[in-house]
Formats: sequence, C-alpha cells, structure tokens
Amino acid sequence: MTAAQKTIHLADYQPFTHLLDGVELTFRLAPSATRVVARLAFRPNPARPGRHPLRLDGEGLKLLSCQLDGQPITPKTDKRSLTILAKDLPQGPFTLETEVEIAPDANTALEGLYMSNGMYCTQCEAEGFRKITYYPDRPDVMARFKVRIESDLPVLLSNGNPVAKGKGWAEWDDPWPKPAYLFALVAGDLKARSGTFRTFSGRKVALNVWVRPGDEDRCAYALDSLIRSMKWEEEVYGREYDLDVFNIVAVDDFNMGAMENKGLNIFNSRYVLASPETATDEDYARIEAIIAHEYFHNWTGNRITCRDWFQLCLKEGLTVFRDHQFSGDMRSAAVRRIEDVVALRARQFREDAGPLAHPVRPESFVEINNFYTATVYEKGAEVIGMLKTLVGDAAYKRALDLYFDRHDGDAATIEDWLKVFEDATGRDLSQFKLWYSEAGTPRLKVQDDWTDGVYTLTFAQENPATPGQPTKQPKVIPINVGLLNPNGDEVVPTIMLEMTRESQSFRFEGLAARPIPSILRGFSAPVILDRAVAPSERAFLLAHDTDPFNRWEAGRALAKDVMVDMVTKGAEVSADWLDGVAAVVFDESLDPAFRALCLRLPAEDDMAQTIHAAKRVPDPGRIHAARREMLGALSVRLGERLQRLYDNLDDGAPFSPDAGQAGRRALRIAALGLLTRRDGGKMASLAFARAKSMTESIGALSALLDIRQGAAEVAAFATRWVGDRNVMDKWYSLLISHAEPAEAAPLTVRLTGRDDFDWRNPNRFRSVIGALAGNHAGFHHRSGAGYRLVADWLIRLDPLNPQTAARVSTAFETWPRYDAARRRRAKAELERILTTPTLSPDLREMVERMLA
Ligand code: ARG
Ligand code: ZN
Repeated sequence: MTAAQKTIHLADYQPFTHLLDGVELTFRLAPSATRVVARLAFRPNPARPGRHPLRLDGEGLKLLSCQLDGQPITPKTDKRSLTILAKDLPQGPFTLETEVEIAPDANTALEGLYMSNGMYCTQCEAEGFRKITYYPDRPDVMARFKVRIESDLPVLLSNGNPVAKGKGWAEWDDPWPKPAYLFALVAGDLKARSGTFRTFSGRKVALNVWVRPGDEDRCAYALDSLIRSMKWEEEVYGREYDLDVFNIVAVDDFNMGAMENKGLNIFNSRYVLASPETATDEDYARIEAIIAHEYFHNWTGNRITCRDWFQLCLKEGLTVFRDHQFSGDMRSAAVRRIEDVVALRARQFREDAGPLAHPVRPESFVEINNFYTATVYEKGAEVIGMLKTLVGDAAYKRALDLYFDRHDGDAATIEDWLKVFEDATGRDLSQFKLWYSEAGTPRLKVQDDWTDGVYTLTFAQENPATPGQPTKQPKVIPINVGLLNPNGDEVVPTIMLEMTRESQSFRFEGLAARPIPSILRGFSAPVILDRAVAPSERAFLLAHDTDPFNRWEAGRALAKDVMVDMVTKGAEVSADWLDGVAAVVFDESLDPAFRALCLRLPAEDDMAQTIHAAKRVPDPGRIHAARREMLGALSVRLGERLQRLYDNLDDGAPFSPDAGQAGRRALRIAALGLLTRRDGGKMASLAFARAKSMTESIGALSALLDIRQGAAEVAAFATRWVGDRNVMDKWYSLLISHAEPAEAAPLTVRLTGRDDFDWRNPNRFRSVIGALAGNHAGFHHRSGAGYRLVADWLIRLDPLNPQTAARVSTAFETWPRYDAARRRRAKAELERILTTPTLSPDLREMVERMLA
C-alpha cells in the first residue's frame, strides 16, 4: 500500500517518453471476465532525447498476452505498471498489443469499467483508464481512438462517430485526438430521447439522451438544455460542435455529477432525469447547468486539455465560469450570482479556512481525485471572473479567441492561459498569477473618510496563512464600487478600483454630501469584506442599492450581524433587520426569486464560519436556536400580509420549470414556511395534499418538519415513491437535514436500517451520511454521536469506494473551529479512521491533511 502513496509534484513534470499515433481497442464484454485488446502505435518522443523504457500504467489487470510488433514478449509488470526495457524496444515506431481481463461486476469503486443496474459504463477521469488496459494514463498523451465493442446488449456506445454495427457488435471512431481520461464506453438495454441540432456551419448533429426503459419521459428537459447550450456556445463563444452525434447517458451509480467524455457524456442520473412530479426547481436549474458544463468542456477540456492534473483548474475553472454565464443568461443573472456566491462561501471559503486549504493550482498531491474541489472549480471560476473584470469584456473575448486559436489540440497549462491574456492586452499578469498559486481567502479591511468634500476609501488586504504557505504576497483585487447619496440616488455608478498593494486609498471628489458606499458590487472578488457598518446603513443599502447583489448582501450581512449578537451577547432580534426584510419581501416591483433569497437566513455552518473568522468559538446549539428565533420573529413581523402574499403567488398556471415560475414558487414556499410557524401546520398539510410538483411537496414537507410535524406526510411520501431511487434520496436527506440536533444521529441510525438504504450507491450514501454531516447542529452535537456515526460509515465505505469515502470525509474539515471538547471528539474519530487496516490512499490523504 505504501507504494501507492507517493506524493506527485508539479515541479517534476516531464513529457512522456513516447508519442502515441493511434489506439485500437476491442472489448469483449462479460460481467466477470471482460477481455480488452489494445493495439497502441508508439514512437519515441523527440522531446525526450535518448533511449527510454516504455512504462505503461495499469491496475487490477490480468495480462493474458503481449506482443511487440507481432512478436510475443513477456514484459515486466507490477501492481501499478507494465514496463518494457529500452534495450528491448525498437529505435523507431512500434506497435504494442496487449490483451487483459477485467471484472466490471466486481468494480465497486466505480472507476474504470463497471456495472450499474446491468449496464456497462466507464468513468476514467482522472486515472481510471489504467483499470481498463495498460496505457500511458496521463492527459498530455493524446491519440485517435478506434473502438470495437462485442456484446449482446442492444445499445453499444463509445466516443466519436459510429462507423459500423452488426448483431452483437459496434465500431466507433473518434477523429479528435484525446487523452485516455476522455474515453468512454456504454453498453446496455437503454432507450433514447432524441433530437437534432444544426450547427452554424450546417453540420447536422444527432442528439440522444439514453436512459433505462421507463425513464424516457423524464429526459425532455436535459435534451432541451443541451440544445440551448449548443446554441449559446455558438453565439457567445463562437464554438461549434465537431462530431455527427452527441450522446448523453444517465447512470444511477456514479461518484460525481457528470463526465465530459468526447461525444459521450455520462451523467449521474439525478442530473438528467426530471419531471414536474419528481424534480424540484433546484433540480431543473442544476440539470441545465451541468448539461451545459459538460457540453462546454468539448472546447474547454477536450479540444484544449490539461498538460497534467495540476492544471485541472484550466478546464474546470473556465468551464464553471462559462456554465455560470450560461445560467445567468438563461435565468435571472442577479439571482444566479447570489446563488453562486452563497455556494462559494459555503463550500470554498469553508475549505480555504481549514486544514484542506490548497491553491487553485495545487503543487502536490497523493490522490488527484481528492483535488476535484470547490477551490479548483468554484474559486477557479472566480479567478476567471476577476480576470474578465480587470481586462474588460472586449479584451476577454479577444483573449478567448486567441486561446482557442493558439491552443486547439494542445494539452495546455495555466502559463499558456495567462500568456494569451498578456498577448491580447499587453498587461503583465505575474501578480495576478498569485491567485493560482496562493491558497486562502483574502480579508479586505475597509475604512472611509469624508474631509473637505473629498471622500476616500482605504483598503487593506490581509492574506491569511494556509497549510504549507505561512506568508503571502498582496494580490490584485478588482473592487467594484458605487456611491449613493443619502436620498438613495446613485451619485457614482459602478467603477472598478484596481487594488494591487497591501494597502491603498481611492479618492472621490465633487460630491455634495458624504456618500454611502456600495463596495464589492457583484462580488467582484472572492474576498471577505471586513468593515464595521451600522445596522442603519445596511438597512439603507437593503432598501436602495442599485446593484442587486449588494442589495441582497446588505440584508445578508445585517442578518449575520444580528445572529452573531444573539449568539455571543444574548441580544434580541433586531428591528432594523425585520423592517428591512419586510420592505423587500412585499415590494411587488422586485423579482419574486430575489425576494425569496432575501428571506433565506444564513446557514448554520456559514454562521459558525463567520463567528470563527471573527476569532470566537462557535456554539452549534446556540446558532441553531438563534436562527430559529429569527425565523419566529420574522413570522410575527411579517404577520397577516404573508397570507395574502402566499395566496396571490398561485396563479393556477400549468407547471413550467422556467425561472419566473420557479421564483414565484420559491417565494410562496418561503412564505408557507413562516406561516407554518404560527398555524401549527394546517396550511402546510393542505399544501402537501394539493402539491402539483415536487418543489411544492418538498416545500410543504420542510415546513412541517421544521415545526416537528408531518409524520403522516413523511409516510405518504415514502409509500408513493418507494421504487424511485432519485426521489427517495430526497426523502432521506430531507428527514435527516431537518432533524433536531440531538435527534439527527439516532434518526440516521434508524434510517440506515431500512432495506432500501443501499449504502454502496453513492447518491444514497450522500443522501444519508452526507445529510447528517450537513446538519450542522446535529453533526456537531456535543454527544459526539454525529462524529462517531459518520466515521463508522466512512470506514465501512472506504474499502469499496474510496473516492466517495474521501469526499464525504470533508465533513470533518471544520473540526479545528470548535471548543476543546468537540475538537477532542472529532480528532479521536479522525485518528480512529487512520488506524483502520488497509485504509485507501484516498481517505488516508484526506484524514492526514485534516490532522496535520
Ligand atoms: N470532469 C468532470 C466534470 O467536471 C468531473 C469528473 C471528476 N471525476 C473524478 N472521479 N474525479 O464535470
Ligand atoms: Zn468539469
């Protein structure tokens, strides 16, 4: 095992010894004994002069035969590789053919070729292809693949274009050179919902969304999202699709969200299947975003890929940025931005503030799968957003055109990416590059001054130490600022202040009165704004800010101030906050989705993070109680008008997943939640009984669970949906996430005893164990029962599925925040995990980093 735990360093990069001119794969599928024949055409790589052995990656393969230029040979193999010595290799090109046997039905790690409900499927990113055949499994080795699949199953798919098929076989040819992580194969009894797309150059593309028989009526939204993504990509980035077919397959057993394999995207079924009865509005939005994300990878990821896995953010940060842009264009941009920032703070700021903090481009890793993180993805996207803000929209467009032009077909680096911006704009981006190399969320302290008619804003940036990086340099921070006069009129519209030094002042002249500043509009940089602001000023911005993000942010900051004072000083719920929220919620001129967001309180974990950042120790029980008290006070303050709001928001129109209707539903459900606190659940029960969509069912159920009612509804829901995996996942996680702090662990124990708690399925595991980890006051309950239970399950899952175990283990990343007793308990559980024999390198790396 120790051999598997080598640390890999960015600084050690070397090109591969050989180039690969072509790949021919033949699969003879059988559940426990699949044969894979690989013919690989190699030649020495001129970038690596001299003679080198050929070392191919391979794990868990049974080698049946090996031939070099047609001659049988016996290469050296070990648990991780196959090697042919330099002296045994021809000096020029040669062909290596291997045949291996693998057992997809025994593959519980869901990496490589595995089975899910009787279908074969693959997941190769990051290093899964080496579990299929011996191969140089690294992203900078790109080759053309031809694939032949032999199986009696009716649908046989791989990358590229279909070239021929017969009874029991099919052949595919992918004309675009690609790294092995983009390889995919699917075989099964599947049904498609199909469409076509005509690209701007006139190419006709056949589109298929493949699902299990019976799920065909839940594919329409995914297909529609795909078509809109293809069109948007042409209109906004000028990029068209480049094959005759585009296939999407939904799989129930999947470790992540989805995978951008060339021409054959494979999805976790929860991000494909949707009908009004089974999917919430949030599900629809996520399906749209993920379909777009995977499609956009065709250019940012596939046509231009990564040189090595340290460059992961090159494709992921950019593709997340692009899917955010797309969702903003499809829906309300302001609402999307707020949602994205909420998620960024909840996941990435949390990661950045704890023991797992790492740069957007990490410099070392043990298991690359542990670096598919919020930092690489979400902060990676924020960094691109800052770059765009700094250079402007026109220059961004020029730089992207240059990027596609210059690097099409390349395995590129962050240096290549930044160089394109430097060449397109003439800017020096060496200081900007710190955003890629230094971890941690900068804190921006703000002071303002009004003297002799001059208004001055002074910023000071603090870049906190993170693991392995004790000292940091000042970063370039684009700070979008607007100024309002005391009447609420905007006197200085949004301008970008470019901060480059540790401390910097910006002057505004010609103002008639001291303005009220609106700072960091649109969340123009991923930083923590540190400025003491009077509640009245926050309330003023909540009422008047012309920047929708900052308008929402003012209400959020006010709510946080109130909650901190309640938790740490025993203060009362503040009237400024209650009045401010009331004014927004009943303002009919505002988008209902925005009003619903203003009604949402900060999450408990977010509060703990805020309190910790202010150098205090968060108490999960008190945070839970304070949040509850705030909701109670809000329900009283908004009073009878809530009922009218609730009634008026139902226009009786037939269901549509569009953003407008979803926003009205969100506001209506928020109102129901508050009303339920006063009527003992009468309206919520009625709403549950009359629900026409999953959004309404879940909304009503949540409202009931929040007041500890709803037993009958919970049972009715389970009876109705017992056969539906995706819907039952919602049921599990809803129950656990709404459990009272002391009840969360015992309830989880009870639910794990159910027959349908199939813990080997990653979605189910996350819906139950992940939900407990996400119930802040429950997971951190002082009994330690939450810590113990999650650790038990990680230990149990790890030998079967290390990737998902490692991912869920991040539940513990915040343990250093809490009091001594909680820290002791959490640490003891982490240490217990470490003592487990045969712990996977995945989980070991995570736990060791959390304990470091
Ligand atoms: N590239 C995929 C995406 O962004 C993620 C796949 C990661 N899978 C993994 N096992 N690390 O959508
Ligand atoms: Zn991605």
